[in-house]
Amino acid sequence: MDAITHPRPVERIVAGQPTSDGAGVRLVRMLAQPLQRRLDPFLMLDAFGSDEPRDYLAGFPDHPHRGFETVTVMLAGRMRHRDSAGHEGLLEPGGVQWMTAGRGVVHSEMPEPAEGRMEGLQLWLNLPAADKMREPWYRDLRADEIPEAIAAGVRARVIAGRALGIDGAVQRAATEALLVDLQLEPGARFAHALPASHNAFVQVVAGAVVIDGASVAAGRMAILANPPEADGVVLAAGAGAARVLLAAGRPLNEPIVQYGPFVMNSQQQIAQALHDFRRGVLA
Ligand code: FE2
Repeated sequence: MDAITHPRPVERIVAGQPTSDGAGVRLVRMLAQPLQRRLDPFLMLDAFGSDEPRDYLAGFPDHPHRGFETVTVMLAGRMRHRDSAGHEGLLEPGGVQWMTAGRGVVHSEMPEPAEGRMEGLQLWLNLPAADKMREPWYRDLRADEIPEAIAAGVRARVIAGRALGIDGAVQRAATEALLVDLQLEPGARFAHALPASHNAFVQVVAGAVVIDGASVAAGRMAILANPPEADGVVLAAGAGAARVLLAAGRPLNEPIVQYGPFVMNSQQQIAQALHDFRRGVLA
């Protein structure tokens, strides 16, 4: 575990906005356009979780993306993915799907008919301008394909970047994205070195954590401040167990222009994306 002398304080706790997307999937949008600049390179975070199939069964039928990457972390339930590049996969509990839309894909994300709980997170990670039109890329990571480190009451599943001395499943040079699914036993503490300039947040999935004196409850996202002297993030579980997603990355500091499922650098590129989609170029 890294030694941290100046931990990041919490700048703000976000409750998120309940909404629905796709064909009517109920979710809580934690990160949307007003926070894109603040949390650059992250563009969006949706949290979904329901015991009621009517809240999720309609799924996300065919829709396009261009210009960024989507990372879906499945916590409960199953979702089938199909895309225009011929990829298909079933996302199962504990699994992660990483999709680089690049110049464009059309895909569907549909829950497998089932009883019971469906829960997960979907994060959008931006691509640098130079990579926005790259070839699409896709990977389904089963739970047992995600590198895992265990340390003093902490189980860290390293999806991207490097933590507790192990490399995650995916590495991104431009954003140095760090994505860690952390499960903490009661009283356990996790400390991780992080450059002060990297934007970071903690999404609490279950339980509660304390970050530099601030308690953050389940379903909340804590935006971590970037004081120049800060050398990392420290979080601790209270009397109960906790599970959080820690995300951090180097800001791209490039223009962000979003129109629905397209995130580019200029209005002209958005117009091109719409034009290409209507001509069927993305499919
Ligand atoms: Fe999608």
